[in-house]
Amino acid sequence: MRAVDIIHKKRNGGELTNDELSFLIKGYSQGEIPDYQMSAWAMAIYFRGMNAEETAYLTMAMAESGDQVDLSPIRGIKVDKHSTGGVGDKTSLVIGPLVASCGVPVAKMSGRGLGHTGGTIDKMQSMPGFRTELTREDFIAQVNDIGVAIIGQSGDMAPADKKLYALRDVTATVESIPLIASSVMSKKIAAGADAIVLDVKTGSGAFMKTLDDSEKLAMAMVEIGTKVGRRTAALISDMDQPLGFAIGNALEVREAIETLHGRGPADLTELCIALASHMVVLGGQAANLEEAENLLREKLRSGEALAKFKQFVAAQGGNPEVGDDPSLLPQAPVIVEVPAPKNGHVHAIQAEELGLAAMLLGAGREKTDSVIDYAVGITLQRKVGEPVREGETIALLHVREDNAAVQAVSKRVQDAYSIGTDELSPSPLLLSIVTESGIKRI
Ligand code: URA
Repeated sequence: MRAVDIIHKKRNGGELTNDELSFLIKGYSQGEIPDYQMSAWAMAIYFRGMNAEETAYLTMAMAESGDQVDLSPIRGIKVDKHSTGGVGDKTSLVIGPLVASCGVPVAKMSGRGLGHTGGTIDKMQSMPGFRTELTREDFIAQVNDIGVAIIGQSGDMAPADKKLYALRDVTATVESIPLIASSVMSKKIAAGADAIVLDVKTGSGAFMKTLDDSEKLAMAMVEIGTKVGRRTAALISDMDQPLGFAIGNALEVREAIETLHGRGPADLTELCIALASHMVVLGGQAANLEEAENLLREKLRSGEALAKFKQFVAAQGGNPEVGDDPSLLPQAPVIVEVPAPKNGHVHAIQAEELGLAAMLLGAGREKTDSVIDYAVGITLQRKVGEPVREGETIALLHVREDNAAVQAVSKRVQDAYSIGTDELSPSPLLLSIVTESGIKRI
């Protein structure tokens, strides 16, 4: 078999076989197929696409290129959740304990933040003492014991995807639905869950800017999951503004705790309940979404979800008291108010810009080795649809000191708000549900 023949076949619109895709991925991983051939192949995929079968073969070849986590010693149906990246997205911190309190085991590996997106691992580490590295044995024992563990990625999972993603980044081949779908799913499949719930973001702050494209991406991922025996469902949610009010590690943990108390922001609560409902159904603890939602609301109301959060924090070395007293979290000493530049109604808030602003304050990483400050960040005081008057505070910056750099960030936050004269109701957060039986607009 030769790489050039496979590139030629795809360039001319042919369908690649499992053997051909395995040959390419193995050869590329082992350094036998050079970057220039993989670039040409990725560009051929970009233009010609791949059908569901080919996408599933590519996914499995990448999942099998490195370590694969064996979660079989954990009792029950393990359901994982993945978000395609959002600003202010602290759903895993709520959903982990919430779903576990319904009897669905959550054995989750999460990532660190980079650029405008935060990472669950950084958020959890803002709780003093919290450990995000556990041995595989301790990870499994904790899930069997209390139902939930969330740790950083360990081992070498889907290294072929890592190499290919870096190549796509510099060859203008990231924005291909089959390549994104196989990239995301290869990592999820290597992480070992039996079922997967995906939160696919759409809008200005997301990979996919239109609902149609987001649905196609979601469908491609659901088809991969279904073909390889992992039941998968996806929700499409709007990313035309940050989720909740808080952006920044400890600030987001505080908001997640508020949500577990049942008094979190409406959008965050709605998304957590929707994603968790699918997880509870796939995990076999409810017969349908309505039953799952009732169960989840009851777990929030009764305090069982919060109790599970405290148990989870304690098991990973943190102070469980943080669940009742978020003032135990690191707090920035200075708060700077960002004023509205004019009268009107908030029409949009560029999520990506606010993610970058939080990063510039020190809440995120510019480079993989940047050091972050857990206390700093932004809390929004106005969201889309709300009226504002000139000079009124639209956001608060939580910082170590006020200085010229902070003032520059303040201007950036102000500019991220679009303020118009007309009244405007915010667009709905949840837009579509994608399952193996099809796409349903909400
Ligand atoms: N995220 C991934 O993990 N892979 C992609 O290709 C795009 C986004």
